[in-house]
Amino acid sequence: MNIKFIGHSCIEIESGDNSLIIDPFITGNPLAKIKANEIKSKFILLTHGHADHFGDTLEIAGENDALIIATAEIAYFCEKMHRKAHAMNLGGAFTFPFGKVKLTLAHHSSSLPDGSYAGDPAGLLLNIEGKTIYHAGDTALFYDMKLIGETEKIDFAFLPIGDNFTMGIDDAVKAAEYINADTIIPIHYNTFDVIKQDAIDFKRKIESIGKKCVIMQPGDSIKI
Ligand code: NI
Ligand code: MN
Repeated sequence: MNIKFIGHSCIEIESGDNSLIIDPFITGNPLAKIKANEIKSKFILLTHGHADHFGDTLEIAGENDALIIATAEIAYFCEKMHRKAHAMNLGGAFTFPFGKVKLTLAHHSSSLPDGSYAGDPAGLLLNIEGKTIYHAGDTALFYDMKLIGETEKIDFAFLPIGDNFTMGIDDAVKAAEYINADTIIPIHYNTFDVIKQDAIDFKRKIESIGKKCVIMQPGDSIKI
């Protein structure tokens, strides 16, 4: 499997013939090195409806006849826009052709780009090729992350560190402790001035609690 960091919270995963993209904010993302029309994903997974996550969802889904996997409110909105969608909700899991998706809690807010209500925000727990990947979405630190870490052996965790809208560095280090993942990858920082962070400082702090930290630059991939 190949995991590519597009920038901000956007991650693309290729597994065999399947490809999926999480939070495809590409157009207007100053960090993205590709264009939305270069994305060929067959599945689009969303953590919530904010524009810096929902991004190019409708365009990519339209171009690739992709299935949008999201909370019920977002999925129904996408269906209204004549896209294919699979509605889920917090705590629920479903097995798709690429693997299993479970929606976890996330403490944040959620609305669609047109301002309409988008239900609760979510985190994503993925089981693909025997690996467990956690994408926290946008969230504050919360103690139930400990429960997620206890029920799943997480290999890779993507945690927001940008502060202002989400956890900052110190809360994300605490989250890493609760989640107990082998490897932590910081996301949702440096895209805009208000979320500028020193990823090296985060890496140092993660290593001081005995975990691995991989800083991915936009366009970087890891093969696992
Ligand atoms: Ni958000
Ligand atoms: Mn965000």
